[in-house]
Amino acid sequence: MHIPVDTWYDAIEKRHSVRQYTEEPVSSGLLAEIEEICEEFTPFAGARAVLVRAPKSDVFKGLIGPILKVKQAPHYVAFVGDTEVNHFEAALGYLGEGIILEATSRALNTCWVTGFFRPERAEEDVAIRDGEQIVGVSPLGYAEESKDRVGNKREHDRKPLSKLIKSGDVDREWVELALEAARLAPSAVNRQPWRFAIDSDSITISYGGFIDWGTSKVIDCGIAMLHVELGARHTGEVGEWSLLSKPKVARFEVST
Ligand SMILES: Cc1cc2nc3c(=O)[nH]c(=O)nc-3n(C[C@H](O)[C@H](O)[C@H](O)COP(=O)(O)O)c2cc1C
Repeated sequence: MHIPVDTWYDAIEKRHSVRQYTEEPVSSGLLAEIEEICEEFTPFAGARAVLVRAPKSDVFKGLIGPILKVKQAPHYVAFVGDTEVNHFEAALGYLGEGIILEATSRALNTCWVTGFFRPERAEEDVAIRDGEQIVGVSPLGYAEESKDRVGNKREHDRKPLSKLIKSGDVDREWVELALEAARLAPSAVNRQPWRFAIDSDSITISYGGFIDWGTSKVIDCGIAMLHVELGARHTGEVGEWSLLSKPKVARFEVST
């Protein structure tokens, strides 16, 4: 599948996490289109996305009682990783963010959830194969904005680029747009673990920070990978990814 670069790039600024939904279902036509993207967008081995139109039970849970719990979402997307495939977490982040940006571009709301959900319930909705695991889910529906208390300002804070760049200079347009797009990426507990090394024709993503909170930082970096690529390609640059060993995650090398 060809990535709809400009559509997804525009969705980066519009996306934010939504945890309170109206009960309004998404039309079956739109669900069919999201389902098609889930089936066709398979950029790297080791990850796939499955739309669940009618969940059998509530897969979301709270931190303490209802805190941070996703409520009322009529549908969700399950992000399934194949734990036997190298780099499946980076693949999962990249793939999942594509589905999320596609949904955002269609005025749907989403929220990456890898902590506060019940994988055993999600497995009643999605058949998984040997070695696979439902690593995360995202609700899909329409926001009940007036009730979304978690959408506070702090959640939208992002680190300045100066704190994220390990080496190199932002001296070309594609690098600037790539890194600005990556800066806006979502991450678990908004920890923004990605760090960037800029070279003459590449950006290498690795992760930093200490606390892991149970969720892999590589997933966050996989999400940032897609944002880097969208920023670069928005300026007309094309490039290729190489997946790397931890704590490095991947390098995007432009070919022009
Ligand atoms: C990999 C990943 C896992 C996440 N897990 C959860 C979760 O379990 N529960 C939750 O309420 N939010 C979760 N989030 C949402 C983040 O808290 C949110 O993306 C971050 O605070 C930035 O806010 P924004 O998405 O509105 O830009 C997760 C985000 C990512 C990227």
